[in-house]
Amino acid sequence: MLWYVLGLSHDVDPAVLSRSLTLRQRIALEALLERRISTREPAVYITGQTWFAGLPMRTDARALVPRSPLAELIERGFAPWIDPARVRRILDVGTGGGCIALACAHYLPKARVEGVDISDAALSLAAENRRLLGLTRRVQFFKSDHFSALKGRTYDIIVSNPPYVGRREMQSLPPEYGHEPRMALASGDEGLDSVRVLLSKAARYLEPGGILVVEVGNTETLVRRRYPRVPFVWLEFERGGGGVFCLTREQLQRHVR
Ligand SMILES: C[S@@+](CC[C@H](N)C(=O)[O-])C[C@H]1O[C@@H](n2cnc3c(N)ncnc32)[C@H](O)[C@@H]1O
Repeated sequence: MLWYVLGLSHDVDPAVLSRSLTLRQRIALEALLERRISTREPAVYITGQTWFAGLPMRTDARALVPRSPLAELIERGFAPWIDPARVRRILDVGTGGGCIALACAHYLPKARVEGVDISDAALSLAAENRRLLGLTRRVQFFKSDHFSALKGRTYDIIVSNPPYVGRREMQSLPPEYGHEPRMALASGDEGLDSVRVLLSKAARYLEPGGILVVEVGNTETLVRRRYPRVPFVWLEFERGGGGVFCLTREQLQRHVR
């Protein structure tokens, strides 16, 4: 919020930290803090902006706050799990405000990217972000219940940060989550409804050698338990976060029914 009040980019020189605020800036910052404390709205819904994988994104309650650790993997073009040079088509399932799809297009400039979501509101925000980033030529957004609108299409990478919160956990989330769309978080009794669809159907939509990369956060333990024979590769991140698995099309065909 301070960066927003000062009109600074997130990657600005840390030397600015020793600057003093003007009275007007202090008043503006205090108003933001008051709102943040009294409403418990996520800070980036209040400011309307954030950065994902180094790219500026518009943010509001139409879609989840961008925070996926997948940003780090996208910045590396999904290496070493696939050769970035061979990636031509990417699908982002549950694209929300489009952060993952748009970052994929930015870091893999030869790829065409499709982002699907079931929420019209989220898709309208995604379209705004696509315009903002000048990526309208290579990124397409459309409505689809998981893969339902994608018959016959295939991709080198299917990436997803699906909803993965179970019924009981939904009731104990901090108030900030109450400002995010429920359908971006809740996924049935155990939180696995979306993950099950991705695991059972993704192979059909992948090219040979293609990969499925899915964030399941703290639902990782349950995923491991429910699918004990699936050889998930759980990715590690330098900047923190986890609960992201990678599987090849061939592994999905062999192990997931
Ligand atoms: C956890 S949010 C992720 C948003 C964004 N990709 C991100 O990483 O910030 C999950 C998204 O999946 C969407 N979603 C929920 N159910 C869906 C379904 N059946 N088919 C497609 N998208 C769905 C939600 O609307 C939401 O935008």
